[in-house]
Amino acid sequence: MSRDSADVPSSGGVPSSSGVPSSAEKRDGGQGMWGGRFSEATDALVQAFNASIDVDKAMALEDLEGSVAHATMLGEQGILTPEEASELVAGLHDLRRLVETGAIDWSVALEDVHMNLEKRLTDRLGPLGGKLHTARSRNDQVATDFRLALRSRTRRILSLLHETRTVLVDLAERHLDVIAPGYTHLQVAQPVRFSHHLLAYFEMLTRDAGRFRDALARLDAACPLGAGALAGTGFPIDRHRTAALLGFAEPAANSLDAVSDRDFALEFLAAASIAMMHLSRLSEELIVWSSQEFGFVTLPDSHTTGSSIMPQKKNPDVSELVRGKTGRVFGALMGLLTVMKGLPLAYNKDMQEDKHGAFDSADTLAVSLRLTADMLPRMEVHAERTRAAAGRAFSNATDLADYLARKGLPFREAHEAVGRLVAVALERGVDLQQLDLATLRAVSPRFEHDVYQALEVESVVDARDSYGGTARKRVSEQVARARERLSAEAEERQ
Ligand code: ARG
Repeated sequence: MSRDSADVPSSGGVPSSSGVPSSAEKRDGGQGMWGGRFSEATDALVQAFNASIDVDKAMALEDLEGSVAHATMLGEQGILTPEEASELVAGLHDLRRLVETGAIDWSVALEDVHMNLEKRLTDRLGPLGGKLHTARSRNDQVATDFRLALRSRTRRILSLLHETRTVLVDLAERHLDVIAPGYTHLQVAQPVRFSHHLLAYFEMLTRDAGRFRDALARLDAACPLGAGALAGTGFPIDRHRTAALLGFAEPAANSLDAVSDRDFALEFLAAASIAMMHLSRLSEELIVWSSQEFGFVTLPDSHTTGSSIMPQKKNPDVSELVRGKTGRVFGALMGLLTVMKGLPLAYNKDMQEDKHGAFDSADTLAVSLRLTADMLPRMEVHAERTRAAAGRAFSNATDLADYLARKGLPFREAHEAVGRLVAVALERGVDLQQLDLATLRAVSPRFEHDVYQALEVESVVDARDSYGGTARKRVSEQVARARERLSAEAEERQ
């Protein structure tokens, strides 16, 4: 294998200084960097179909970062001269400025971000630009870029999750004494603190953050760069060096796996799907709670919209869209799993379909978190409505049974006795606490006057003081633990 790539005639879109015959038609044939063996122009529709620039230009900065590491290492290893390496690195830095200011015209004829940037570099540096691709393939290049791109997106999502979790804890603390109905089967079950309900979402988003951190640890563990097209390279490269320069723990151990692994993207999408599922559930609750029938909360005008025909309407569009956009994130996960499931080793062009869904999902999750964190603190909670609803529908029936159980009646029998009292109350159209003591005692002589105190909504809520329960003391503990956790994580990140 020649180490002097300047002798290799460039072709296709790359300007040739060697004078090797190459028809003008062929130069415009959209073969970019690989036209050497082709005698016919690429069909225009094939060119458009094959190109990924519209999607992968989003990782232009990562591509340049990978190239800087690669060029640096080539220079250090003597594969390029130190002057060549530093000229390449300087050229790559210039390109970075162009990318940052949006000054690059991306070309579909050059297929993807890798070939677009290499061509720009060669335009600036001449044949030296063609040396950058020594001991590298687009296969290890794209696998590296994609990891870097999902690394920065994961970090952004972790920071948005932290913010949203903080908002939930603040809101819980602010509404510690608001009592609301707790549901099972969307039927009123037992009263709970509204704060307790909000903190359930804190737990969900905390697990989401854990999943993203786990995924990030595996993503950071292995650098594909230097795996070449699939089998490694004959050049004396230092893969540990490029891995370190790019912030990876180690080079990927197996070159075939390195170029064909997309687990990191699947893990990202799985974590994003679960997080979106959580945001979707929260959105669903906000939609229900803000309906006229519930009237538990009023969503802020800033995060709701009107109707073009019904002047009175105020619609929870943001929450509905978070719920709706969850579908595309699930779709991206299923899409990539399906792309990968039948692929033989190693790289296959099918894998070019990996980025669109992953980037779109990152954006969707990020904006959904942003909007949720912005909207929640501005939401008005109607404590009288939630409290009234919490006291309805015999939500204290379990407490009546617990009362009898505490007095020694086996719980199963207490359940049966209270069931009969519920039937009486239903018949009379009253609540359990409105039944007189004589009626209660007719069902069980264990009832005494103190039963009425036990049936008060506040007593019912505060009676549930088991660890993780809805009693004031327990919810305050949850708030304190949540705050500790958030500040420990914030310190970790510094
Ligand atoms: N645009 C390609 C992708 O995203 C880059 C890798 C192309 N490799 C190749 N051998 N055609 O997958």
